Amino acid sequence: MKLLYLGDVMGRAGRSAVIGRLKTLRADWGVDFCVVNGENATSGAGLSGSHAKALLEAGADVVVLGDHAFDQKDMLQFIGKEPRVIRPLKFDKDAPGRGSGVFQDARGRKVLVAQVLGQVFMKRPFDDPFSAIDGVLKAHPRGGLVQASLVDMHCEATSEKMAMGHYCDGRASVVVGSHTHVPTADAMILSGGTAYQTDAGMCGDYDSVIGMEKDEPMRRFVTGMSRGRFSPALGEATVSGLFVETDDRTGAALRVVPVRDGGRLSAATP
Ligand SMILES: [Fe+2]
Ligand SMILES: [Fe+2]
Repeated sequence: MKLLYLGDVMGRAGRSAVIGRLKTLRADWGVDFCVVNGENATSGAGLSGSHAKALLEAGADVVVLGDHAFDQKDMLQFIGKEPRVIRPLKFDKDAPGRGSGVFQDARGRKVLVAQVLGQVFMKRPFDDPFSAIDGVLKAHPRGGLVQASLVDMHCEATSEKMAMGHYCDGRASVVVGSHTHVPTADAMILSGGTAYQTDAGMCGDYDSVIGMEKDEPMRRFVTGMSRGRFSPALGEATVSGLFVETDDRTGAALRVVPVRDGGRLSAATP
């Protein structure tokens, strides 16, 4: 199966790039199943129901979220009605929605999608992601109940993401990091056959500071003073993510390629 994962869609620039290009990219790359991280798609903070719908209509089979899952308050209701939107496992004991789900591609092949949040350097303490994902992977063996599985590890620390990759190695088809908005150059297949990249990067304008207009973040770093709010950068976005080909029989990854289309970053195709 050919899986495409797209990193955090950042504001209007990211949204319009993904909505405008995803159908073509899917066709060009022969993608069977596509997961998009939408946690910053609405004004850089969270995802509204209408923007979730737009990403799904544009060609996302599943939209995952992150620490900003419910920044847009209508997501608290929307996620209960739309099973194709997944928030992190153990997000909060009262959080609506699900942290994992089993979906199908157009040919009926089953794909498990799950998201976990790391604990290192995050703004508030979240539950242990390792025990959370362990139960989900045990219940959905790769090459057994599902043909493929993808785990989105949403956190700051590269070390914690790599540890999660190895923890899921041989059990998930793909472990991909999100949240830092910068793609890492370590796409690889781990020894147990799990495709891995520490961060998929954002779908956003890279002429920015992690997707925000440069002026305010630079002022805060340079002077230590804030003078306004952050606002998403509006230049042409790079669509950034990870392409993975898997073996339907075993669920193992056969090939992993970082992908980048448009905007400032150098292009990369499967
Ligand atoms: Fe993000
Ligand atoms: Fe995040």
